[in-house]
Amino acid sequence: MSGDAIRMDGKVAIVTGGAGGIGEATARLLTARGACVVIADIAFERAEALAADLAGAIALPLDLEQEQSVETLVERTVAHFGRLDVLHNNAALLGPEIAQADGDVERMGTALWDRTFAVNVRGTMIACRAALPHLRETRGCIVNTVSNLALQGHLIQAAYSSSKAAVIQMTRAIAASHGKAGVRCNAVAPGMTMTPALREAFPPALRQVVEDETLRDRLGDPRDIAEAIAFLASDAARNVTGQVLVCDGGGASHVPGLAGFRSFFAGEQ
Ligand SMILES: NC(=O)c1ccc[n+]([C@@H]2O[C@H](COP(=O)([O-])OP(=O)(O)OC[C@H]3O[C@@H](n4cnc5c(N)ncnc54)[C@H](O)[C@@H]3O)[C@@H](O)[C@H]2O)c1
Repeated sequence: MSGDAIRMDGKVAIVTGGAGGIGEATARLLTARGACVVIADIAFERAEALAADLAGAIALPLDLEQEQSVETLVERTVAHFGRLDVLHNNAALLGPEIAQADGDVERMGTALWDRTFAVNVRGTMIACRAALPHLRETRGCIVNTVSNLALQGHLIQAAYSSSKAAVIQMTRAIAASHGKAGVRCNAVAPGMTMTPALREAFPPALRQVVEDETLRDRLGDPRDIAEAIAFLASDAARNVTGQVLVCDGGGASHVPGLAGFRSFFAGEQ
């Protein structure tokens, strides 16, 4: 362990979905802290462009829906760098059309439900399964990105939120089974995070609703989430396993309707 436990010198990390958004911010932060990072994404050209910009990073193709692709990613990582210390499962089935189609269960398309679980849950499980023998050797760790939507009921994204809840339980199961062998497994649950894609796609009026419930003066950005992930991936978190770190600016921490109460009390003065 290095003197500064948050440093990642000598460690090798896979960041799935690392070509943009939160994954890109995490790849940037981990390399800045000394790690070698594999940026693994279905958007391979974007992954390659980012890797070219980061010392110590390489890009590898990944399609989480294809079992062989996930297993090959882990094999190629270990063949290239000789070890694996961190698996960060960040990729998920996202995008405006997916979000549009993923609403209430009564109108849920079975194909969308299956695909969401194939990428977010099955793909994550296969990546963990392939990585665990290597993580045992390095006493490494897994960090899964879930979502605040996995922790509370909402009107939107029933398939996505259910899939992320499944990943939370997978996180605890892996932590329980592999802790004694030195492998930690945790999850980060971001609240709404202003990636470039979301900034463009999310209606400003709805963004304001979320911002009003946040306890900070602004919504989180990708670097805010990357900091939480990098902490859990580091030796500084050596006593933390089986946990979900909610990283949402306090949005899920308070009584329901806090924004309304805030306006009410402001009006009384
Ligand atoms: N941005 C938010 O507000 C927010 C909130 C809560 C949770 N999250 C979670 O954070 C993570 C990153 O989200 P983001 O907002 O940065 O989104 P993003 O769309 O920028 O990143 C997702 C990445 O996953 C990749 N990907 C998609 N399908 C894949 C597949 N089959 N195989 C391999 N790669 C695939 C995409 O190409 C993309 O680069 C996701 O797990 C998401 O659920 C995001």
